[in-house]
Amino acid sequence: CGIIARIGHGNAADTLITGLENLEYRGYDSAGIAVQNGSGVKVHKCSGEVSRLKSSLDGQPHGNMGIGHTRWSTHGPPTDENAHPHTDTAGDVAVVHNGVIDNYDELKAELRAKGHEFESDTDSEVIPHLIDEYREETGDTEQAVRRAVDTLEGSYAIAAIVDGEEAVYAARKGSPLVLGLDDEEWYLASDVPAFLEHTDEVIYLEDGDIVVLDPDTYQITDLDGTPIERSVDTVDWDPEDAGKGEYDHYMLKEINNQPTSLANTIEGRIKDGDVAFESLPPGSFDDIDTVQFVACGTSYHAAMYGAQLVREAGLRTEVLRASEYESTSGPVDENTLVIAVTQSGETADTLDAVRKATECGARSLAVTNVVGSTAAREADDAIYIRAGPEVGVAATKTYSSQAVTLALLTQRIAADVPEGTPADDRGEMLEALEDLPKHVETVLETSRAEALARDVFGSKSYFFIGHGLGHSVALEGALKFKEITYEHAEGFAAGELKHGPLALVTEETPVFAVSTGSDSDSKTKTNAIEAQSRGAPIVAVGPDDQSLVDVADDHLSVPDTHPVWAGLLANVQLQLLSYYAARQLDRPIDKPRNLAKSVTVE
Ligand code: G6P
Repeated sequence: CGIIARIGHGNAADTLITGLENLEYRGYDSAGIAVQNGSGVKVHKCSGEVSRLKSSLDGQPHGNMGIGHTRWSTHGPPTDENAHPHTDTAGDVAVVHNGVIDNYDELKAELRAKGHEFESDTDSEVIPHLIDEYREETGDTEQAVRRAVDTLEGSYAIAAIVDGEEAVYAARKGSPLVLGLDDEEWYLASDVPAFLEHTDEVIYLEDGDIVVLDPDTYQITDLDGTPIERSVDTVDWDPEDAGKGEYDHYMLKEINNQPTSLANTIEGRIKDGDVAFESLPPGSFDDIDTVQFVACGTSYHAAMYGAQLVREAGLRTEVLRASEYESTSGPVDENTLVIAVTQSGETADTLDAVRKATECGARSLAVTNVVGSTAAREADDAIYIRAGPEVGVAATKTYSSQAVTLALLTQRIAADVPEGTPADDRGEMLEALEDLPKHVETVLETSRAEALARDVFGSKSYFFIGHGLGHSVALEGALKFKEITYEHAEGFAAGELKHGPLALVTEETPVFAVSTGSDSDSKTKTNAIEAQSRGAPIVAVGPDDQSLVDVADDHLSVPDTHPVWAGLLANVQLQLLSYYAARQLDRPIDKPRNLAKSVTVE
């Protein structure tokens, strides 16, 4: 979910709506705002996207302060009633919430017994009722907010307004919240793009922080009321980056942005033919003997990419789905480096996995796109992928920047660890990396993915196969395809086709075979031919100079480069394929149903 709050001297509603539009990648099941003016707290909310809320507003709601929310449902379906903001029975306290309240059932029962009436199925609705209850008892809203958050179990970022008070109250524990400071007004939001067009001066709030904003001042305290000083950061994202520009979709813009985002990722990280991370000088990994990667979704596929390179460098490594950490992790100790791969830095499953590893003594490193994110702050070290803001729910440029950052990190680690052997051809690999942005540009300029998407349109299923680094690219290709087209797509290790999935293969199941120009491509070719002899059309995705291309029915070509980078170029072709296939089907490409970009609940 995404939350925003604003207080200042002008009208708030416009800013709240634009803020919600900028946050829609966090959820788009329903949306709402509440504004406060001389005649009380006015709530406007409905199911559906922010555009629906916007067109339902009858004139501009008036008020200099307000809160807003765009929802990704956890408790209760996306109905008007379940949309935020929620209020207490009298409608005096309005609250927006991101997170999950674990003890809401018992709180609801207690509050009901005291006469509170509830209208929604959500866990969040208990919060305004609790604040109201404690206001009655203490006669002071700030005290009431403190007591309310102290009573809540679970995770939350909350913003609240109260009838007749010139203030916004907020708190965070386990869900992100950032304060934006402008000359004339203050903002609170789940993420910086919500208010980036107004200010780049931010304070990243921490768990346990309670914030009170009035039109002239802001105050941060801990739960006991002790004032807290937090540093002000300047965000170096350009507000232009957060817009759609000339493109029809954010996803297409972000795919096309990869030459620039990758150049930013690489900049300054190759020095004198070697890998250099400012914050991780040589010797940083001397005592590491095992590297664990934890991640979800697309980030998991980038982590697979990284893990393979760690393995090739002679180190013990595991790549784990964060949501399955406890049941899959091997032994962990102080010689284990756990790398959290998370573009948002806020994914609850990933944060949880890292906390479990560090409890066992592991050292943690976050690889993320968001400075000040929870992963970056909680981990022992953080390195940034520098992809710039990504709005499309389907991750594209963050994936390629993650994979490159991890490949570089691998070489850094391998150089430190006694058993590690940096790649023999490290010089060539790093030299080839400098050309990667240029090669991506070639793919973007010459890709036949749009025409191919038309050719394969109407198939029953779409399979993606690969071996080695190509395996993770195949999995990512299938994930992207299914999430934005809603067509059935699966990715497989090429050699696994014959162990089951081949039963599904017919002339109606195109198989996209990813190659990287490495020795293992011959295996992928054999497996592709096995599918072809059962009728499947084969599309080779990779460099021209390889025998797979000769046998394939079609080809999405990438420039010749080092095998470590060729998979990433193949991935750009597959991003374009998914995009154009989804476009043909007229799907809501930037906001696929049921998904959200940043999932801050387990
Ligand atoms: C969500 C998104 C995916 C993303 C995953 C992990 O499920 O829809 O696109 O890969 O979260 O996100 P993270 O921010 O941890 O990389």
